Amino acid sequence: MSETQSNPEHDTHEMFQQRWSPRAFDADKPVSKQDLHRCLEAARWAPSCFGDEPWRFIVCHKEENEAMWQKLLSCLAPKNQEWAQHAPVLLVACTHTVFSHNGQGNRWAEYDTGAASVSLCLQAAAIGLVTHQMGGFDADAVRATFHIPEDVKPMAAIALGYRGKTEHLDEGFQAIEKAERKRKNLADITFFKGWDV
Ligand SMILES: Cc1cc2nc3c(=O)[nH]c(=O)nc-3n(C[C@H](O)[C@H](O)[C@H](O)COP(=O)(O)O)c2cc1C
Repeated sequence: MSETQSNPEHDTHEMFQQRWSPRAFDADKPVSKQDLHRCLEAARWAPSCFGDEPWRFIVCHKEENEAMWQKLLSCLAPKNQEWAQHAPVLLVACTHTVFSHNGQGNRWAEYDTGAASVSLCLQAAAIGLVTHQMGGFDADAVRATFHIPEDVKPMAAIALGYRGKTEHLDEGFQAIEKAERKRKNLADITFFKGWDV
């Protein structure tokens, strides 16, 4: 059970309970290449519209290529950099915005890339890693730094690593880290008889 999940209404698979988005990462505990690849493999097997697999991941593994990792870190919003600097792996989930089979716009590409990203996060949780996705980054800087083509859109950065000590965060982040994780009620997000009936 996640230490912060506060209002579960039903039992779920353990990995859903283990996945959450901490900010405390252990900078001294590297992620093995094998574990990183297991997470990427989970993303690879996500479902996608037309089987187009529009997701692409820029992977910055500090142990392997610190300069590249540093470049991505510097593209994150300053507030995110404060804690993400301790994550041994930083990624950017990108999406191809057009279908490969006909070059037409793929309006499901972002949906599919979100599915692939959460698959990565759940696999990470299942093997004892933690992830934290971020919309707070400079997409233009990421595009320029990593030479991302025009028809590919950087969607979210993801920090991956081992959980660190909450006490190492500043007070503000500690408070967020310790706050209860709440969700809307199931009844408020599901419609069994039509919208709002
Ligand atoms: C697309 C996306 C963008 C996010 N952007 C940020 C961000 O820039 N900074 C941050 O600290 N958390 C960010 N988060 C994390 C969310 O705040 C977090 O997932 C949400 O509060 C739910 O918490 P949980 O993941 O622990 O269940 C983002 C999450 C997603 C999915």
